[in-house]
Formats: sequence, structure tokens, C-alpha cells
Amino acid sequence: MRLENKTVVVTGAGSGLGKAVAIMAAKEGARIVMADINQAAMDTTKEEISSAGGEAIGCVVDVCKEESIVSMLNKGVETFGKVDALVNCAGIFSSIPFLELSEKDWDRMININLKGSFLCTQQFIKQVLRQNTGASIVFLSSISGFIGFTKSAHYCASKGAVRQLSKAIALEFGPQGIRSNVVAPGTIETPMNSWIIDDPEMHKQSVASIPMGRFGKSEEIASAIMFLISDEASYCTGSELLVDGGQITHC
Ligand SMILES: NC(=O)c1ccc[n+]([C@@H]2O[C@H](COP(=O)([O-])OP(=O)(O)OC[C@H]3O[C@@H](n4cnc5c(N)ncnc54)[C@H](O)[C@@H]3O)[C@@H](O)[C@H]2O)c1
Repeated sequence: MRLENKTVVVTGAGSGLGKAVAIMAAKEGARIVMADINQAAMDTTKEEISSAGGEAIGCVVDVCKEESIVSMLNKGVETFGKVDALVNCAGIFSSIPFLELSEKDWDRMININLKGSFLCTQQFIKQVLRQNTGASIVFLSSISGFIGFTKSAHYCASKGAVRQLSKAIALEFGPQGIRSNVVAPGTIETPMNSWIIDDPEMHKQSVASIPMGRFGKSEEIASAIMFLISDEASYCTGSELLVDGGQITHC
């Protein structure tokens, strides 16, 4: 098992990619600290992990609130002794034409997708430096961090910024053995995309733009993340892994 003796912190573990990462990491032998704003959703993830013989704790966390992040990390360390990896999956999406985008819409997107990843990562690194162990961090960007999409300037901006955040951290903490990498998914079958999946015309159009002819599955993103948080990726830092079925190869 690739993650034996490791503790993996997963934000957004109640749904979609975070849920798949938490379940797959537990199957790889990791103990899981789940963080999500939605307690009920996290309970479901925990049940799946426990019934497969894995170990997980869930903490209600708003990634925009430092106190809740600190108390989640303290609980993780109290329960499992240390933390070894952080996967920043908590995030939101909304489709709003640029001229209708309010300051509130903008702030909410940037707060959760960018500031949330910053706050979680900063507190995580403080803990890792206290442990003196090294660690691996994964940020969830998106193809929207590489190319533009209409009606999602705020989302694209948040996902582009996350790429730079990861690179700066890779540089600053490489000497301490803290690796920082980005996974950039294409369009994946998660609740975030139900508005496309549930609209047959929109679904058909979206799939037509993907060389592999389908949306990705959460597990296909989780597998890429397993590599980056395992020791198999011991020399990967500052890197970006596109997992998009070829969606942006033509751009
Ligand atoms: N699904 C995709 O196609 C896709 C593509 C590219 C990137 N991503 C990115 O991957 C990440 C996960 O997306 P997903 O598809 O799993 O979404 P999702 O909506 O299925 O899950 C997101 C999770 O984040 C949690 N969350 C939201 N706000 C939070 C907050 N303030 N504090 C703590 N938790 C919070 C939600 O409760 C939910 O459980 C996001 O950052 C998203 O932008 C997704």
C-alpha cells in the first residue's frame, strides 16, 4: 500500500473529488483527516472508509476561517500523531456573465477557492515544520486555470492563481522537504457539474470538445493525486498534472 503510515488531510472530503481522494487514500493505507463545511456529506464518506476497514475523522471546517482549520489540524495530530499530506479539494463553481458578476460573487469565489487553499496550506506547513518531517501538498486547479471560459472569469482567475500559489510554495519550502504540486482536472462527473450533466444538449456539446469523448471520473483524478502524495513522486515539486482527457490539447 502506497500511503501506509501517512496521514492525509483532505478538504472538501464530503463530495466529488475530495470524497474520491479520501476513500482511495484510505484504501492505500493512509489515515484520513476530512475537512468539509457539510457534516452530513462527510459522515457518508466516513462510513464508506470505515466499512472498507479504513480510519478517518471528520471535522466541520470552513476553509475561509483560520480557527476552524487550526482546530481540525490539532484534532488530526491528536488522533493520528502527525500529518503528511494535504489535498486542497474544497471549492465552488458558478457560471455568471462577466458584466453581471457582483463584488460579492467575486469575493466568495476568491475566498473559497484561493484564500481557502492559502489558509489551509499555511496552517498545514506550520504543523509540518513543527514535526520536522517533510510533506506533500496538492492544489486543485483546473483547465480553467490554463485557458479562459466564458461566464466564469471569477472561477478562471481563482484557478490560475492557485497554480502560482503552488509554485511559490514549492520554491519556498523545497529545502524543508515539503513538495507542492497542482492537479488540473478537465470536466469530471461530480455534483459540481450536475448543471451540465442534467442538461442533455449542454452535455452533448461539452463531451464533443473532449478528445476522449467523455467526462472524467472522480477516481481518475484521485489516482493522479495518489501518485503526487506518495513517495513515488519524491522528486516532483512545482509540477502541474493535467488530467483532462485531452480537453485543452487543441488550444
Ligand atoms: N468537477 C470538476 O469538473 C472539476 C474540474 C476542475 C477542477 N475542479 C476543482 O476540484 C475541486 C473539487 O471539486 P468537486 O467537483 O469535487 O466539487 P463538489 O462540489 O463535488 O465538492 C466540493 C466540496 O467542497 C466543500 N466546500 C465548499 N465550500 C467549502 C468551504 N468554504 N469550506 C469547506 N468545504 C467547502 C463542499 O461542501 C463539497 O463537499 C474544486 O476546487 C473544483 O474547482 C473540479
